[in-house]
Amino acid sequence: MSVLLTGGAGYIGSHTCIEILNAGMDVVVVDNYANSSPIAMKRVEEIVGHEVKHYAVDCCDEAALRKVFEENKIDSVVHFAGYKAVGESVRKPLMYYKNNLDSTFTLLSLMKEFGVTDFIFSSSATVYGLSEAVPYKEDLPTGCINPYGWTKFMNEQILRDYAFANPEMSVVLLRYFNPIGAHESGLIGDDPEGIPNNLMPYVCQVASGKLEKLHVFGNDYPTPDGTGVRDYLHVVDLAQGHVAAIKYAKDHKGTEAINLGTGIGYSVLDLVHAFEEANDLTLPYVIDPRRPGDGATSYADSTKAKELLGWTAKKTLVDMCRDAWNWQKKNPRGYEE
Ligand code: WQD
Repeated sequence: MSVLLTGGAGYIGSHTCIEILNAGMDVVVVDNYANSSPIAMKRVEEIVGHEVKHYAVDCCDEAALRKVFEENKIDSVVHFAGYKAVGESVRKPLMYYKNNLDSTFTLLSLMKEFGVTDFIFSSSATVYGLSEAVPYKEDLPTGCINPYGWTKFMNEQILRDYAFANPEMSVVLLRYFNPIGAHESGLIGDDPEGIPNNLMPYVCQVASGKLEKLHVFGNDYPTPDGTGVRDYLHVVDLAQGHVAAIKYAKDHKGTEAINLGTGIGYSVLDLVHAFEEANDLTLPYVIDPRRPGDGATSYADSTKAKELLGWTAKKTLVDMCRDAWNWQKKNPRGYEE
């Protein structure tokens, strides 16, 4: 019996692949490599010490995806595959809506055909919009501020409605906060294309000298030091949250939304100082104006994950900074060989 990981060669997918295998379950990875590299699968195999079944398949290609279900006994699905760049989603909304929703429709159709009922969805704290009602609880009214976020919100609603009409379904909507860091080996990590949008990969490229300095987007927010506050969690903790969700889904029916976050908010400058401390270096930065679309503060109420999944994040901000830098140092050009 295997867990099907769509987008399993990506940053979170590859880390989850390793934790599922560590938990004694089998995996089958499908990925079209639009946002990832086949080299990540080689690195995963190097870490786990054996081959991992993977297919170069686009989740919107029903014929190709059907072949995966025909060739493997799938007993649950973790759906990571999707476009995820906020800025690009604003520029190309139809590409995001088509890809991120069609992939879910295709998966649900094949799961019905092959009798697969457990669906773990890669959602995001972005569904909470710019709400100031922190810590975010799962029953907080949701609303999004960009097409990427709306695709997450819409997928959640599609899955809720589908599970209501198909009572055999077990759906877990995992709302990630800000995953950072890398596997302790430094063999896999976050490998964004071009200039990173997200904070940690940008910090790592400044530390490596690839970028000149960090631009801190605003220090006039209503936060302790004026810079944006987020709930950063180690990607390995996040991956282990998926293992807990897969096990939970086996004995559960219906739909549950669950935050995966530490419940602790750290500012941009908190992260900068932790990075400097963890890696014994100085990080040059300048204060720039706020980035449009950013909120002041976002962090999770992680009670439900503890109660339902028995999961809490274990790693510290210094752990995240150390492991992120270890990946960057060993892979200055990411997965490019
Ligand atoms: C974190 C903080 C920035 C870069 C995004 C997506 C969200 C999710 C996670 C997918 C903020 C500040 C950043 C920089 C900075 N992705 N910052 N200089 O915006 O919280 O969330 O990634 O689900 O959907 O929106 O993460 O890392 O971009 O920003 O000062 O060069 O760092 O203002 O306060 P964000 P981020």
